[in-house]
Amino acid sequence: MQIRLQVNGQTHNLDIPSHHSLLDVLREELDLTGSKRGCDRGECGSCTVLLDGKPVYSCITLAAQVRGRSVVTVEGLANDGQLDPVQQAFLDEDGGQCGYCTPGFLMSARALLDTNPNPTDAEIREALSGNLCRCNAYGRILQSVRTAAERG
Ligand code: FES
Repeated sequence: MQIRLQVNGQTHNLDIPSHHSLLDVLREELDLTGSKRGCDRGECGSCTVLLDGKPVYSCITLAAQVRGRSVVTVEGLANDGQLDPVQQAFLDEDGGQCGYCTPGFLMSARALLDTNPNPTDAEIREALSGNLCRCNAYGRILQSVRTAAERG
């Protein structure tokens, strides 16, 4: 199947099997391996990317569904060599431990702050509720998002 994908501002014309997920295409066709394959069934959030600004699980999104729509992966967060404020806050607040879930958390946090720049703790928890951290670093992750929000 021929598809045209818009990923991190770049257009890609690809020939892929019709059953391939967006995560398959990102990792295997485009070499964008920041989005992680954890459960591969829509439960852990490590594969989260932004689709038209909204967080989605790329493992259960067919690549064919995203034709003509804008996809942003963790590789697309930094701008001109400058980390996104969410990335910087996770670094400063030690928001990642093993790091496997971190790209997914970053994308969910970015989506939250894009629509709600001053979230309450409850709103942060709700926005991140689809992302699991097996290291149980939730306290540091919450603080990282608070810090990113404070910095604007
Ligand atoms: Fe997609 Fe777990 S790998 S939700």
